[in-house]
Amino acid sequence: MAPVKIANTSTSTGDRHHEAEMPMFGLGVYLMGDPGECKSSVLYALEQGYRLIDTAMAYGNEHEVGEAIRESGLPREDLFIVTKLRTPHATGYENTIQRCQESLENLGLDQMDLYLVHSPPKDPDARASVWQGMEACLSNGWTRSIGVSNYGAHHLDAMLSYADVMPSVNQIEVNPWLQRPALRAATEGVGATVMAYSPLARGHKISERGITEIADSLGCTPAQAAIKWCLDAGAVTIPKSSNPARISENLAALEVDLSGTEEAFAALEESYVSGWDPTSEP
Ligand SMILES: NC(=O)c1ccc[n+]([C@@H]2O[C@H](COP(=O)([O-])OP(=O)(O)OC[C@H]3O[C@@H](n4cnc5c(N)ncnc54)[C@H](OP(=O)(O)O)[C@@H]3O)[C@@H](O)[C@H]2O)c1
Repeated sequence: MAPVKIANTSTSTGDRHHEAEMPMFGLGVYLMGDPGECKSSVLYALEQGYRLIDTAMAYGNEHEVGEAIRESGLPREDLFIVTKLRTPHATGYENTIQRCQESLENLGLDQMDLYLVHSPPKDPDARASVWQGMEACLSNGWTRSIGVSNYGAHHLDAMLSYADVMPSVNQIEVNPWLQRPALRAATEGVGATVMAYSPLARGHKISERGITEIADSLGCTPAQAAIKWCLDAGAVTIPKSSNPARISENLAALEVDLSGTEEAFAALEESYVSGWDPTSEP
């Protein structure tokens, strides 16, 4: 699947800056807390052909992602590494630039590919200065691109008044049970690409009849059907697995053809939130 071109769009001129090619598919590494679990999962995924890794300072495993990158022997420019500014650290400009450097140290990298604000900073008055810190990380070359995560349409809208550049990405929960057409459209409306986290709704839904019937009709697994639905919706998709067979199974979702299942997928929508949902915060 061809990579997507992401960019940070200028609020004053509408020009696209800091364009970068981002793979449409990658590995999420949340809840890989056992020592070595994240490193071995990332190494296996890279061997299988994954090129995008989504971590966060909050996951406590940036250093293992870095170790896996180095051990893989893959050229750095072939990889796309995403990490995030922790919500409790999203208090202002100084904290933002300091934590970005800390993440780079943890990863053992000079530059990350995408740095995200993990969720809207709790203090609405801090949102502008946090984003100015993100913009400084971008202009300092510490990251190739900056974005947000868990921003609702109203959070994105507010950015138009304080941002020099808009986010290149909004990482939100999207899957067949939480399809979010309005938030996806609002994200694309500000020039950002949707990144779908929890594409399997954390595994909560993939044994249910609706998705198993679709998968049976296609001759694929339920997880593959859910992942391909997210990709076909235009979202960069990052399922987590620390099980080698599932890491391979999830990658093979790229080959699945969902033709003829549009109505069956539409019927799965149930506004199901599998984890948290800061998009609705004020
Ligand atoms: N920005 C945010 O706030 C945010 C929030 C949540 C997640 N994320 C990111 O998105 C990534 C993915 O989301 P997620 O980890 O919440 O959930 P997910 O990818 O929807 O689901 C992961 C769960 O599904 C299981 N699984 C994986 N592949 C499977 C398969 N083929 N068949 C059956 N079960 C399978 C995994 O178990 P095994 O490991 O045992 O296979 C795990 O329990 C995270 O790792 C993280 O990088 C971001």
